[in-house]
Amino acid sequence: MVPATIVLGTQWGDEGKGKFTDLLAKEMSMVVRYQGGHNAGHTLVVDGETFALQLVPSGVLYDHIVPVIGNGVVVDPFVLLSEVDMLNRRGIDTSRLRVSGNAHLIMPYHQQLDALHERHLGKSKLGTTKRGIGPAYADKAMRLGIRVQDLLDEGIFREKLHASLLHTNKVLTKVFNRLPVDPDALADKVLTECLEPLKPFITDTTDLIHEALEADQHVLLEGAQATFLDLDHGTYPFVTSSNPTAGGACTGAGVGPRHIDRVVGVAKAYVTRVGAGPFPTELFDDVGTKIVDIGREYGTNTGRRRRPGWFDTVMLRHASRLNSLTELAITKIDVLDTFDVVKLCVAYEIDEVRTEKLPYHQSELHHATPIYEEMPGWKTDLSEIRRPEDLPAEALNYLKAIEKHVGVPISLVSTGPGRNQHLRLPA
Ligand code: IMP
Repeated sequence: MVPATIVLGTQWGDEGKGKFTDLLAKEMSMVVRYQGGHNAGHTLVVDGETFALQLVPSGVLYDHIVPVIGNGVVVDPFVLLSEVDMLNRRGIDTSRLRVSGNAHLIMPYHQQLDALHERHLGKSKLGTTKRGIGPAYADKAMRLGIRVQDLLDEGIFREKLHASLLHTNKVLTKVFNRLPVDPDALADKVLTECLEPLKPFITDTTDLIHEALEADQHVLLEGAQATFLDLDHGTYPFVTSSNPTAGGACTGAGVGPRHIDRVVGVAKAYVTRVGAGPFPTELFDDVGTKIVDIGREYGTNTGRRRRPGWFDTVMLRHASRLNSLTELAITKIDVLDTFDVVKLCVAYEIDEVRTEKLPYHQSELHHATPIYEEMPGWKTDLSEIRRPEDLPAEALNYLKAIEKHVGVPISLVSTGPGRNQHLRLPA
C-alpha cells in the first residue's frame, strides 16, 4: 500500500500551501481537505490564470485527481455550489468532486452568530473570518450540528434543523436580541437550492480514501489554516475551531497514522498572521511595511492586511514536533530579494532568560523578545531561478540556516506565484 502524504501550514496560515498541494498533485490520485471551511483561501496561478479556491481542494485543476472534502470540514452548501459554478464557467470539470456525508453544514445562522460573537467581544475579538466556522464546529461538539448526509433525508433534515434552532433561536433572541430563524423556511431554501446539485457529490469519503490507498493510489491530505491556528496546539483563543495539525488529518479524513509517511510543512520565508493574538517576531516598522507591500500580504478571502514578521525557528521547531514533519517547503523567498539584511529568530528572551522552546504558558509568549541571527540579503531577483546551484550564496545560506535551526530538510522552495516558479533542493 502506498502511504499518504500530508501538506500543512506550519505558521499562522497563508503560507502558500495551495501552490505546493498543486505541485504535489501531479503525483497524486486524490486530494482530500480534512478540516476548516471557506475561511481558507487558496490562490493558484495556472498558465497566467488565477484561481482563488475556498472549499474545493486545489487538485480539482488536474483532470486525473479526485478532489475530496473530508468529514472534518465544515461546508457552506451555498458557497460550495457557487465555487463549483465558478469553476465550471471557467472550463474546469468538477464532476469528480466528492463531499463526505459526515461533514457538517454551515448554515446562515452560524455566520450570523460568528459576527454577533465578534461584535459582543468588542476589544477582545478574535478577528475571525466571520464565515461561521466556530459556531458550526461548536454545534458539532454540542451534538446539534447538521451533517451533509442529512440533506438526503428531508424528514431528518427538517427535524435536525428544528432541534438545532430550538437552541440557537434562544441565543439569537434572548442573548443577542435578534429575530429567530424559521426552520421550515430555511429547510425549504436549502433543499430547493442545494439538494439536487449537491447530491452527486455526497458520499462515504472515508471508504473512498481507503479504496484508493488499497489500490496503491497516492492520496494527499491537504490542510487549511495552520499549526498555530490549531484549536489544541495554537495560540488559543486566537485560533480556528479545527485541528490543522497532522493529527487532524487522521480524524478529518478517517485514516490511521500508519497510513502516512510524509508530512510536508509549508512555511513562508517570513511570517504573517491575520486577526489578533501573540506574534513574537512581528514588525511594526518600515521593514514590515515593505514585506506587506512586496508580498501583497492581504487576505485572499477577507482583504485584511496581514501582520508581518521575521521567520521564527522557535515556532517551526515546535511545529516539527507537533506534526512529525518530514520536510519543509519554503514559499515567497523572492519577497526578500531586495532586503540588505534578513533575520531569523533562533530563540526568545523571556524575563531575561533565553529559551529555544516555545513557552507553554501563553502570557510568556506575549512578552517574548526574539533573539535574531542576522544574515546579509542576496539582493538578487530569484524569480527565474530553477536550480539550487544557481541560488546566490546568501539565499542558500538563509535556507541552510532555517534547516539547521528547525532540524528538518527543505525539499522545495517557491520563488514566485507561477506554477513553475520553484526549485527542488537535493536531500
Ligand atoms: P475563523 O477560522 O474564521 O474562526 O478565524 C479564527 C482565526 O483564524 C482568525 O484569527 C482568522 O484570521 C484565522 N484564520 C482562519 N482562516 C485562516 C486562513 O486561511 N489563513 C489565515 N488565517 C486564518
